[in-house]
Amino acid sequence: MMHELEIKVPSVGERRYKIVIGAGLLPSLWPQIKAAFETHRPFVITDENVVAAGHLDALLAGRNVPSFVISPAGEISKNIGTGVAIIETMEKAYLGRDTVVVALGGGTVGDIAGFAAAVFKRGVPVVQMPTTTLAQADSAVGGKTGVDSSVSKNAFGSFWHPAAVYIDVATLATLDERQYRAGLVESVKHALIADAAYFQYLEDNLDAILGRDPAVLATVARHNCEIKGRVVEADPNERNQRRMLNYGHTIGHAVESASNYDLLHGEAVAIGIVAAGLIEIEMGLSEPDRLERIRTILEKLGVPVILPAEMDENRLIDIVKRDKKAIERWPRFVLLARLGQVHHPDGQFAVEVDRKVVEGVLKKIK
Ligand SMILES: NC(=O)c1ccc[n+]([C@@H]2O[C@H](COP(=O)([O-])OP(=O)(O)OC[C@H]3O[C@@H](n4cnc5c(N)ncnc54)[C@H](O)[C@@H]3O)[C@@H](O)[C@H]2O)c1
Ligand SMILES: [Zn+2]
Repeated sequence: MMHELEIKVPSVGERRYKIVIGAGLLPSLWPQIKAAFETHRPFVITDENVVAAGHLDALLAGRNVPSFVISPAGEISKNIGTGVAIIETMEKAYLGRDTVVVALGGGTVGDIAGFAAAVFKRGVPVVQMPTTTLAQADSAVGGKTGVDSSVSKNAFGSFWHPAAVYIDVATLATLDERQYRAGLVESVKHALIADAAYFQYLEDNLDAILGRDPAVLATVARHNCEIKGRVVEADPNERNQRRMLNYGHTIGHAVESASNYDLLHGEAVAIGIVAAGLIEIEMGLSEPDRLERIRTILEKLGVPVILPAEMDENRLIDIVKRDKKAIERWPRFVLLARLGQVHHPDGQFAVEVDRKVVEGVLKKIK
């Protein structure tokens, strides 16, 4: 005898969240969080550098709120061990399913906190408060969360969209100069894939951006969130369109890994963007003057636009073959049709590029 049943799981329904952007928001945010999550109990996750920079104090203003301070800060702590420590701290504080996690920090804090929120008691809401140029432009919006294994980055992970995002551009005032500049590469990437007028805005306001002018930074944050938000809305789980956010990242990730992470993510992506530009020229999608414009803004940001001299391009090719999105050991590439527009023949946002073309470009970009 055989029985067959069918269970229909109701769909989650529409999820929406708001992004609030401003300069100097932090000290007035707590009452807003309390009001928005009246029935929830907050738990703050941050890291030691964000605390040292005074941002946790600015947010809490002496309030006694259970929290976890990641130490050491950075990628080194983005692992399952930190995830376990966070969750056990929440349990010991008698927190339950009515918790709201508040992530105050850069992309590593946001990724770990989002992941902890996704799995704690089968999922509690997370509020993202990004404090780096990278996190404000990229990681705080979009719902990708996770931690690394000893083998690869983001090996444990989940899509867990934030319940709200609060971006205080004033927190960027304390960020290290190299981190600050590298994170801005994601803003350049957004402009390149989606908005030529925004690219022009970045060119025109570069001095103010590097001077960390709050009003300009708030405008930059708004453009980034609009662009990333639109792409994520269209393709929340990265089936196709969302791949465009990987512009410059296929070569970029390989360069980052081949440098043994000496290069920051944004620095490696800058090289990846130039490589993509060279591929576009090879494939007749672009004229050299477009790449010149892009190279100029990256140079002004002070990020590298050529491969480090000691980097071996055969090793790079080898890493490219292991790209997680590779099909038959060769990834597809996101390319631009023009400034502000991704090349998407037949609706495909990542396209085939001959190995020879990529190898040729990697030889040239020195
Ligand atoms: N989820 C996503 O969609 C997504 C997208 C891109 C990157 N990421 C992830 O983001 C991570 C990188 O993020 P990141 O570059 O922000 O790194 P990070 O979080 O390590 O921050 C960089 C450094 O700056 C410090 N810091 C943060 N804010 C500060 C402030 N306001 N003042 C002074 N110091 C401050 C941190 O303690 C750290 O030492 C990577 O793990 C990457 O995988 C995730
Ligand atoms: Zn990136």
